[in-house]
Amino acid sequence: MTTASTSTWGSVDLSAVPHIVTDLPGPKSKAYHDRCTKHFKGLSGQVKLFPVTFDSGEGCTLTDVDGNKYIDFSSGIYVTTLGHCHPKISEAIAYHAKKLMNCHDFTTPIKTELVEKLAEVLPGDLNGFQFYDSGTTAVEAGLRVLRAATGKNEMISCFYDYHGKSYGGVSLGHIRSPVYGAVRAPGAHMVPRPDTYRPIWTKDDGTIDTDKYIEFYDQYILKGTVGNVAGFVLEPIQGWGGSIMPPDDFFPKLRKYCDDNGLLMMIDEVLSSWGRTGKWLCMEHWGVVPDIVTIGKGFGNGFPVTCVAVREPYKESFESISASSSYGGNPMACAAALASTQVIEEENLLERATHLGEIALERMRQMKKEHPIIGDVRAKGCLMGIELVKDRTTKEPLDEAGTMVYQKAFAKGLAWIPAGHILRMSPPIVMDDKTLLKGMDMIDEAIGETERELGYA
Ligand SMILES: Cc1ncc(COP(=O)(O)O)c(C=O)c1O
Repeated sequence: MTTASTSTWGSVDLSAVPHIVTDLPGPKSKAYHDRCTKHFKGLSGQVKLFPVTFDSGEGCTLTDVDGNKYIDFSSGIYVTTLGHCHPKISEAIAYHAKKLMNCHDFTTPIKTELVEKLAEVLPGDLNGFQFYDSGTTAVEAGLRVLRAATGKNEMISCFYDYHGKSYGGVSLGHIRSPVYGAVRAPGAHMVPRPDTYRPIWTKDDGTIDTDKYIEFYDQYILKGTVGNVAGFVLEPIQGWGGSIMPPDDFFPKLRKYCDDNGLLMMIDEVLSSWGRTGKWLCMEHWGVVPDIVTIGKGFGNGFPVTCVAVREPYKESFESISASSSYGGNPMACAAALASTQVIEEENLLERATHLGEIALERMRQMKKEHPIIGDVRAKGCLMGIELVKDRTTKEPLDEAGTMVYQKAFAKGLAWIPAGHILRMSPPIVMDDKTLLKGMDMIDEAIGETERELGYA
């Protein structure tokens, strides 16, 4: 099915995408959007800034109700990692939708197959699982396991982390909302983490000094907590924060620090797992096995299914946290996750994600040479970012440019993700090289137009 070296996906001729046939948003898009938003409230910036009405998706393309076709650089929101409506995944869900939809947490053959497959592909002794219906519910369960396994209730996360919108998630995330993020839960602490583009502590040669961060954590735990710390709760790469990359030595050093000090490491891979960065878990890039890990988004490639995986010593902690839920691990969900896993293996998509990341990075580096407002470019597989700044020396964020570039590229037929001054790209890992580079060209053009309008070129 994959289009790695061909120019079609199912019925879609990729050489003819994007294909824009109306003003955007088109008349039918507007009419649906007006009707819908009379009742449907609380839209994300992604929609508010470009309110089209989507009708269908195939592979790495989307079509709106006016017949406009877009290249998908968003995958929903990092969700449809294997493209829209992969036949193998759609058929697996449909089969179980006709056979057995829900039987609470009773064992089913498909769940049995899924847990055995997960134990096989995940690194180390990550072999205890429970399933959920969203990233947030998985994070909440992971936090319960963390408390149960340690008997402790203080947790440390990092500035710019994102862990969902429940009270626990918001308490450990960077959401600074006076409405719903006003008071963090007791025991939730936040510390800075090494960011390769904006380091706080550097060595004499200007490179990031990871040891200083670990020393800071040590002092913080000693003086800023009540001495009841269960562990760290971190994203491997900060997705919502803007594809913020850690230096390669951060997680290995933090793992050692946790091991030396009896702390657990819970890693939130809701966004970064299941092929997004070219590995099952992003943490595999650094050879680090977390104690608890959350897996989501691409796990069911669009079907709402998420997972908490724990290492052998912590498996029994699931027993004490009332782990089950109404929808977790239903047969359709397990079928979606198993089919997604099999498709990744059968189509060598971990390698493909890595390859796409490499060619995207090369193209973005070329853009950086041509556009003074680009401060940094980064990619790990298909988790990508471009940081826009007023000045490369001061690195002051160029916030207004982010929205402008988002809207301009969308108007050319690129469906993607807005985010302040950091452009975030999350193409499906099934994309062919030509379509990826076409999308990059559209971003390049949009940055050029924005630069000229804002007087930077
Ligand atoms: C790292 C991370 N954790 C948790 C969540 C919450 O997931 P959901 O929106 O599925 O509840 C997200 C969503 O973007 C995420 O990126």
